[in-house]
Amino acid sequence: MKVLLPGGAGYIGSHTCVELINAGHEAVILDNFSNSCAEAVARIEEITGKKIPLYNADACDPEAVEKVFSENKIDAVIHFAGYKAVGESCEKPLMYYRNNLDSALTVLEAMKRHGVSNFIFSSSATVYGTPESVPLVETMPTGSPTNPYGRTKLMLEQILTDAAAADNNLSVVLLRYFNPIGAHESGRIGEDPNGIPNNLMPYITQVAAGRLPRLGVFGNDYPTPDGTGIRDYIHVVDLAKGHVKALDYAAEHKGSEIFNLGTGTGYSVLDIVNAFIKVNKVDIPYDIKPRRAGDIAECFADPAKAEKVLGWKAEKSLEDMCYDSWNWQSKNKNGYKS
Ligand code: WQD
Repeated sequence: MKVLLPGGAGYIGSHTCVELINAGHEAVILDNFSNSCAEAVARIEEITGKKIPLYNADACDPEAVEKVFSENKIDAVIHFAGYKAVGESCEKPLMYYRNNLDSALTVLEAMKRHGVSNFIFSSSATVYGTPESVPLVETMPTGSPTNPYGRTKLMLEQILTDAAAADNNLSVVLLRYFNPIGAHESGRIGEDPNGIPNNLMPYITQVAAGRLPRLGVFGNDYPTPDGTGIRDYIHVVDLAKGHVKALDYAAEHKGSEIFNLGTGTGYSVLDIVNAFIKVNKVDIPYDIKPRRAGDIAECFADPAKAEKVLGWKAEKSLEDMCYDSWNWQSKNKNGYKS
């Protein structure tokens, strides 16, 4: 299939692009590089040996999106475009609602005009809100995400479910990501956040690289075995392969379906720090800090549905995730700018 990836130059999009091409698909990337860069696309081309049509444009721009669809016979869309910083979304909610909702709606409208019927969406475990119990199963009610970023994900899930219910031709797959970390084994593509990282693994790798002095561990008084927060970290290459399976599924089914993409295993912040130190033989100095507002104690997936229905299962270990995260950061101290 020829697959359009709005936001395809970003962290998850770039890894998914590689796995799509490995599986024999073709990719077209639409990206305005608001949190990514053209170098990432050059590196995807280097890894895959394939030239990727690239449109440097905003997915919210109807004319630019129309141009992509009229110049390429697109079969499916995997939609990554969107802002994703939780803290920033609280400071600039309108910017988040406008951008995240508009980009998806603009692409969906173009799909309808061009008779394209498969849409895979990057959702997030954040739609479960504060879980009443773990592991999280897709049938559990969605909660109230604690920030506007999370609410854009929940709203888009609702919009896409309505769109699929109203259009017999449309196939929508909602992928609820848990915590993606790691990088492609080549060390040529990886996570390259703007500014000081919000998320745990890029913070750790930047401490290891000497770009940041010490890690702050946000709280050690949670009701977990070591008191630090537990999450379901998933290798980004496993996550990328989940998109390829979701694409196959969308092509065979109509309506909408939801899948958790996680490993089913939770690790604490200190599990991650200690595994990183052990695997990579580098020191990560850290201080225990107060809890971060909006954080929950524990969050991990029940990934059984994705295994049963999509035939997908995460395969990489915590050690792989720590090794590959550092392999990328140590070879690219300043991300794509180095
Ligand atoms: C993981 C754990 C922190 C940084 C968020 C969004 C989610 C998704 C992924 C993004 C927690 C602790 C972190 C640090 C720390 N969206 N931590 N020191 O919060 O599970 O999920 O990112 O695109 O929607 O909510 O991920 O990596 O920020 O935190 O101790 O410097 O690490 O408290 O327990 P989170 P995270």
